[in-house]
Amino acid sequence: MANTQAISEVAAPRTGRWTEDPVLSVEHLSMHFGGLIAVGDLSFDVGRGDITALIGPNGAGKTTVFNCVTGFYKPTEGRIIMRHGEGRQPELVEAVTASGEQYRRDGAGAVFLLERMPDFEIAYRAKVARTFQNIRLFGGMTALENLLVAQHNPLMIASGFTVGGLLGLGGFREAEKAAIAKAAYWLEQVRLTDRADDPAADLPYGAQRRLEIARAMCTEPHLLCLDEPAAGLNPRETAELNRILQFIRDEHKTSVLLIEHDMGVVMEISDHIVVLDYGVKISDGDAAHVRSDANVIAAYLGVEDESEIDVAEVRADIESDEALQVKPRKARRPARPKSTAKAAPRGRRK
Ligand SMILES: Nc1ncnc2c1ncn2[C@@H]1O[C@H](COP(=O)(O)OP(=O)(O)OP(=O)(O)O)[C@@H](O)[C@H]1O
Ligand SMILES: [Mg+2]
Repeated sequence: MANTQAISEVAAPRTGRWTEDPVLSVEHLSMHFGGLIAVGDLSFDVGRGDITALIGPNGAGKTTVFNCVTGFYKPTEGRIIMRHGEGRQPELVEAVTASGEQYRRDGAGAVFLLERMPDFEIAYRAKVARTFQNIRLFGGMTALENLLVAQHNPLMIASGFTVGGLLGLGGFREAEKAAIAKAAYWLEQVRLTDRADDPAADLPYGAQRRLEIARAMCTEPHLLCLDEPAAGLNPRETAELNRILQFIRDEHKTSVLLIEHDMGVVMEISDHIVVLDYGVKISDGDAAHVRSDANVIAAYLGVEDESEIDVAEVRADIESDEALQVKPRKARRPARPKSTAKAAPRGRRK
């Protein structure tokens, strides 16, 4: 049957801009929690200036990858390379790796080994910003104040780390003015100017999600990591989110790494998609490649391990119930005992 593909065959990853000029490379990343392998030997590249989506069913290990990239977890194994400047910079990467340093700048380039760096250095030096699956704003502060707090570092530097800030001395006043201008700019981009003085906790849910993105952008990241930004949004808010993310990519040349369950968002705006299941990469390529990959369809529909699937049949299924158009939530997952299934993610498909 021409259309039938064994799900054990992992399609060769397509290459793209992300291969030539990756802002981030995750290499052989593993994260174990006791006996549970949340992520196992995962490698992928994030192209500079791309929107890259990291997708997969619940519990696939997506947030764990983010936590390793942003320094919240120290990976069990693996190398996570963040690059400023063009290209893969292989000599610099190897030199930093061999030297035991956390990072090195060299001419127009810089290489940061994130697995060696604490979270605040990853944000401040490597310029990786993130938002959380569960919103984490300062609820008692206004929307504007949330964006000013995000600019704490340049303000502290301008104060000379002295009471200069309190006394309102020259350099600090300038820096404060710039911080307010940047905050005002991002409030406008996320359509929250009229809510600037409202406590963040009083904003509707969708507005809080946009404010989190604005707060991350105030740190001028090279890489913006967003954990399920469309979760809980209505269709109008989702369309607005798509616009904001495309604006960030196109106008600010910021690379975006996006975890998202909403396939409408993923397929519409992603340049590159990486699919995880049980902590292992099962597909990697552009939207057209991933959409038709039998492994992806199987993971989302919960096809049994040993079976073969008829791609045409499943696709017809998808078209009829829009399985990949809605959030592939827990209901679509085949029942499995968590302890056994998660302990051996790589053994699942032989
Ligand atoms: N700190 C932790 N301690 C123990 N187990 C953890 C920890 N963090 C994550 N896990 C486990 O690792 C696995 C992957 O979890 P993770 O949160 O990365 O999945 P996810 O792909 O983000 O899922 P979702 O789509 O539901 O957000 C899960 O089995 C989870 O229970
Ligand atoms: Mg998650």
